[in-house]
Amino acid sequence: MDEELRFDGRVVVVTGAGGGLGRQYALMFGGRGAKVVVNDLGGDEKGSGSCSTAADNVVDEIRATGGQAVANYASVEEGALIIQAAVDNFGTVDVVINNAGILRDVSFHKMTDEDWTLLQRVHLNGTRAVTQAAWPILRDKGYGRIVMTTSAAAIYGNFGQANYAAAKLGILGLANALAEEGRSRNIQVNTIAPIAASRMTATAFPQEFLANLRAEAISPLVGWLAHENCSETKGLFEVGAGYIAKLRWERALGHAFGADRAFTLDDVARHWGRIVDFTDAEHPLGLNDSLEAVERALRA
Ligand SMILES: NC(=O)c1ccc[n+]([C@@H]2O[C@H](COP(=O)([O-])OP(=O)(O)OC[C@H]3O[C@@H](n4cnc5c(N)ncnc54)[C@H](O)[C@@H]3O)[C@@H](O)[C@H]2O)c1
Repeated sequence: MDEELRFDGRVVVVTGAGGGLGRQYALMFGGRGAKVVVNDLGGDEKGSGSCSTAADNVVDEIRATGGQAVANYASVEEGALIIQAAVDNFGTVDVVINNAGILRDVSFHKMTDEDWTLLQRVHLNGTRAVTQAAWPILRDKGYGRIVMTTSAAAIYGNFGQANYAAAKLGILGLANALAEEGRSRNIQVNTIAPIAASRMTATAFPQEFLANLRAEAISPLVGWLAHENCSETKGLFEVGAGYIAKLRWERALGHAFGADRAFTLDDVARHWGRIVDFTDAEHPLGLNDSLEAVERALRA
């Protein structure tokens, strides 16, 4: 039998690891030899309050099975404190799992400034704060594995989640840029869109549906993306219910009107079928693939 993939000697930071998916990640890393910073603010699912119990309990669970872990209770908005905890306790950081999150679902016409701003602060700014604090360490050592968390609700759009969707796709944009910036330093950045039973989804889906969406079914993908043997970067994955699949962009061949020719909205309307036709579609991977389409249009 193959040897199990381990994280001996690696320092892993998991944000929001006091419950739900983050707890599973922390237990998995702790059980495979990593030194784990179990970060959790310990508030409620809407972002109110704080307490140390959630993170402490997970640290106790990891230590009870012989693993190494420390608790950290900072908000991800204060990302530098979380990375400092990794450095103070374990000397460095190798892996960052940006997982912490909250929800404030409300239809857009009723959304307050606070509903909007708090979601950006926790998800997008928090992810940036934690990642940017770790970044110089990862760059200097020429090694890093970062997993970001987005959501199908953001990729596809969902009623009542404009604040969440904006923040979560902001995270994907951040991941795409950092994957490019980290490439030459062996820092790999991937993003997951999980679905699993947790307090976050407890009221969003029927109980019988949630029963099979085990939180444990997300951590194998997170572990693999965080492992040194994995060469994937800039990936986006849907994961849940024992299923994992990669997503990618798709671009229609489109219609070139000619860069030196004036054309009108009537011309656009006339060629609409071609513009939205995905027959023989392309799958651009980077900015060069986008520029290539522009060059092709210039030649048309
Ligand atoms: N469960 C799902 O189906 C699902 C679907 C899509 C995306 N997600 C995302 O997965 C991640 C984990 O969600 P979950 O389902 O485990 O939810 P959860 O509520 O069980 O866990 C989130 C954890 O983050 C912590 N947290 C919240 N704000 C924090 C902050 N400012 N600083 C530090 N910790 C903070 C919470 O205390 C909590 O323990 C979230 O980013 C969520 O948006 C989950």
